[in-house]
Amino acid sequence: MFKILCISGSLRPTSSNTDILKAIPQLAAWPDISFSIFEGLDQLPYFSPELDYEDATPAAAVADLRAQLQAADAVIVCTPEYAFGVPGVLKNALDWIVSSGEFVGKPTAVISASPMMTGGDKANASLVQTLKVMTATITADQILTIPTVRTKIDADGNITDTTLKADLVKIVNSLRSV
Ligand SMILES: Cc1cc2nc3c(=O)[nH]c(=O)nc-3n(C[C@H](O)[C@H](O)[C@H](O)COP(=O)(O)O)c2cc1C
Repeated sequence: MFKILCISGSLRPTSSNTDILKAIPQLAAWPDISFSIFEGLDQLPYFSPELDYEDATPAAAVADLRAQLQAADAVIVCTPEYAFGVPGVLKNALDWIVSSGEFVGKPTAVISASPMMTGGDKANASLVQTLKVMTATITADQILTIPTVRTKIDADGNITDTTLKADLVKIVNSLRSV
């Protein structure tokens, strides 16, 4: 089984970004792929290097994030943009992974979704930069901005836009083939 861990940058219960991650497994028949969504973003302590020295026992939430990343063959991050940047909760999570290295060589897709025309492009570019510094493997076809997202998902969280569906299928297949 090829395991994909999905991480949403939004904590909102009705998040468009989380809806997209929840919808992906249904977009095609992938019998050899398992998808899971990381639930603990808001449980992580604020990152400080003082808490992250070499022999430190990490907080349970940090250990859980690291274990789920270790077990994953690939990662999909789907995030909103706040004030032209990556949401603090998501950046905080990534800061915990810099020293432990679970993103090293990890095939990773970077998706941003926004109700605006820009599709969260600034947050997307910033996230790509951060993950590349952490030496995640990100190819051009694994980067996607989704403008006017609320016109592309229905009230039940189903993706209604055929181009978006095709783009997401392409991303999963690309992660699978890295
Ligand atoms: C404080 C704040 C700042 C925001 N800044 C941006 C922004 O810079 N760019 C953008 O595209 N949307 C921005 N938005 C709108 C978000 O894209 C929108 O709330 C989106 O639905 C959040 O994604 P979600 O549905 O997955 O939670 C902002 C929203 C808030 C509350």
